[in-house]
Amino acid sequence: MNDFIQGLPKVELHLHIEGTLEPELMFELAKRNNVDIPFSSTEEVSRAYNFHNLQSFLDIYYQGANVLINEQDFFDLTWAYLLRCHEDNVLHTEIFFDPQTHTARGIPFDTTVNGIHRALKKGAEELGISSKLIMCFLRHLDEESAFETLEQANRHKDKIIGVGLDSAEVGNPAGKFERVFKEAINQGFLTVAHAGEEGPASNIRDALSLLKVTRVDHGVRCSDDPTLVEQLVAQQTPLTVCPLSNIKLKVFDKMEDHNIVHLLRQGLCVTINSDDPAYFGGYMTDNFMAVANAHPMSKKEIAQFTFNAIEASFISDKEKERLK
Ligand code: HPA
Ligand code: ZN
Repeated sequence: MNDFIQGLPKVELHLHIEGTLEPELMFELAKRNNVDIPFSSTEEVSRAYNFHNLQSFLDIYYQGANVLINEQDFFDLTWAYLLRCHEDNVLHTEIFFDPQTHTARGIPFDTTVNGIHRALKKGAEELGISSKLIMCFLRHLDEESAFETLEQANRHKDKIIGVGLDSAEVGNPAGKFERVFKEAINQGFLTVAHAGEEGPASNIRDALSLLKVTRVDHGVRCSDDPTLVEQLVAQQTPLTVCPLSNIKLKVFDKMEDHNIVHLLRQGLCVTINSDDPAYFGGYMTDNFMAVANAHPMSKKEIAQFTFNAIEASFISDKEKERLK
């Protein structure tokens, strides 16, 4: 089964590029840019990556991003991720970036987006990996800041396909961003949102009705609401589930308790993704392996995660055919 999973073509739809910052690159960039980091060795970093919930992770994740200063840093970060994709046979990836994490530190929007985009272009040319870029608003910040960010994205519409919503779910309801998502849709962006990771199933309902999302990031708490599950099955609304992330952030106690395979068998369009692989201990193949080891599945079921991800992706029908 390991060889089957390793060789299986994969499509990733839930990946925060800032969450691919491996400790080695963090140290290298800290040195290159003369930035202080609160760690003196990779062992110390590993010890710090012992999270008890989403917020305890976010605190460390935003701190790590401080080493990203120049366009080349964002290029190096993205290129390192694409090389890992190549190893894992990831053929297409749709990645999130958090512009506000960087503009708040005085790093221009253009620096971030241009560095990421240059690496994605090289990934297509040299590794044959296609990609899309999704800009996330930080939900702990206010609506005004989200509108400013949307304005900054205007010059980069050719590089950004959609907008998303991430950061602390509890206490920051979807309704806070209803107007900015409406404007983003008017401007031609697709929409996705994190919902039902730490927050209740009603947050998934709100993301669908208020933000008009075409897929839900995480969404695992839908199981608490059978009527919602029926609706998600009927509409084939994709859920971008991140198994290792959910264990690291204690959404489920252990992989055996994870509901992803149950959701698959209920007919939901669930996909497997890595979220923040440098922080959660695994890239795409590791996530597939962890699920398959805890939940015996047929090869057909495992491959269904890839078929679902192809369907759920933001590529054209013609491009979808290339991946099938
Ligand atoms: N949830 C919310 N915000 C995030 C995550 C996540 O899993 N990863 C990076 N930002
Ligand atoms: Zn996420």
